[in-house]
Amino acid sequence: KVIIIDYGSQVTQLIARRVREAGVYSEIHPCIVTADQVRAMKPAAVILSGGPASVGEADAPTLDKGLLELGVPVLAICYGMQLLGHNLGGQLATSETREYGPSDLTLMGDCPLWDGIDKSAPTRVWMSHGDKVKTPPPGFAVVGRTATLDVAAMADDARRIYAVQFHPEVHHTEEGARIISNFLFHVAKLKADWTMSSFVERAIKEMAETVGDRHVVCALSGGIDSTVVAVLLHKAIGKRLHCIFVDNGVLRLNEGQEVVDYLREHFDLNLKYVQAQRRFLDKLEGVEDPEQKRKIIGYTFIEVFDEEAKALGHVDFLAQGTLYPDVIESVSHKGPSAVIKSHHNVGGLPEKMNLKLIEPLRELFKDEVRKVAGELGLPDFIIWRHPFPGPGLAIRVIGEITEERLDILRKADKIVQAELMSSGWYRKVWQGFAVLLPLKTVGVMGDGRTYEHVIALRIVDSVDAMTADWARLPSELLERISSRIINEVKGVNRVVYDISSKPPSTIEWE
Ligand code: XMP
Repeated sequence: KVIIIDYGSQVTQLIARRVREAGVYSEIHPCIVTADQVRAMKPAAVILSGGPASVGEADAPTLDKGLLELGVPVLAICYGMQLLGHNLGGQLATSETREYGPSDLTLMGDCPLWDGIDKSAPTRVWMSHGDKVKTPPPGFAVVGRTATLDVAAMADDARRIYAVQFHPEVHHTEEGARIISNFLFHVAKLKADWTMSSFVERAIKEMAETVGDRHVVCALSGGIDSTVVAVLLHKAIGKRLHCIFVDNGVLRLNEGQEVVDYLREHFDLNLKYVQAQRRFLDKLEGVEDPEQKRKIIGYTFIEVFDEEAKALGHVDFLAQGTLYPDVIESVSHKGPSAVIKSHHNVGGLPEKMNLKLIEPLRELFKDEVRKVAGELGLPDFIIWRHPFPGPGLAIRVIGEITEERLDILRKADKIVQAELMSSGWYRKVWQGFAVLLPLKTVGVMGDGRTYEHVIALRIVDSVDAMTADWARLPSELLERISSRIINEVKGVNRVVYDISSKPPSTIEWE
């Protein structure tokens, strides 16, 4: 495997993804990891990431030189390159202004990183740096330059240490994927053996061994992550997996039920559908504050799940769909104050119930989970399902939640889903849904004045939900959604389109 040392760059995760896309397993570790710890991981290669700090500045992350003595090839990117320059006897130059964006790289010398790339013309790369290497350390040859950088890439073939000032991991670097592949396959001589079918095989085998003849409980939400967890575990331990689906009364029309029906039909899963709608809705009565709604739904879920799990008798494990981005320790470039992000879809449950966790997806990125779902033969409607928040429609009925208002939202939302699907836009957008606003407005219908509800459409593009922008849908599609909602959903006389980006807005309205 390839170990990526994270110096705090925003795009470190992309390095891991590019390496995996090339078919090699990779892991990210924070820069406070020591060379001895890395040696124990038996890496086949090491990649040093970029980072926002300035080498030599107080609190800036430093290089454990032992990383260069593991006997494996090293690729250093951006800040990583500056660390090499500084630590191996080269010279750095600091600059006041950052160079940010595209740049044209002239490839020099006979460097294995450039294998198969046309050297007769510059290639477009993407830069984001302040400092730079002015003079390479002894033993290094300059293998690339740009108009602003005399040393844009350097190589020490004898020690198999390579460094680039630009970011090969971002898509804007034209030959980025090839440069990373060249490092993996031509320099480190690795084999491409990280595939999702090998993952599925290994995960099933490992879980079967871990669980033995004991029992596992799993909360099924209807989303892709928990569905994939359930199917994998079912393959590993069969009936000793107990799935619990809790209907909290704030699900979409048929959401969940579809997945449950599918799983029941195609897999002989042990699956309990818990009808707890009344219990949730009673507690939500009269509550308007979004955080309060979240809390009520969160703890009521735990109560219900706990009761159901206890009713199963003896269970040892709780399965969760934690993904790799939730596991990666994020580093502050201000030093070793590494914090571990914790992620509990069923917050507090494992502690409360004294269960051991099983997280088969904790090595995977979302796109890899989709591939696993494909390997398992799951249908597109599960693989491509939009994210749906735990508190569900409770945070999309703005203000008070009543059966009547939920009903209006469900009907309007169903039309949004159907139209996105039939127009082919469902797969192109990150999320699309309806929101019921807490106000009424005036309209005319026939000869009469109406005074009814407003539905807002929230349809966004995003890659990770951290930032988002409103989707530029064709106006004919918006028109169709609007007229269908107003004609078909009783009680709605106006539809508006949310054209705010995140930040400063958020994807959800509450
Ligand atoms: P925001 O509204 O923060 O949403 O831009 C970002 C992403 O998170 C989802 N979301 C939630 N998911 N529990 C969840 O499980 C929540 O309380 C919650 N709030 C927002 C939202 O749908 C979007 O995908």
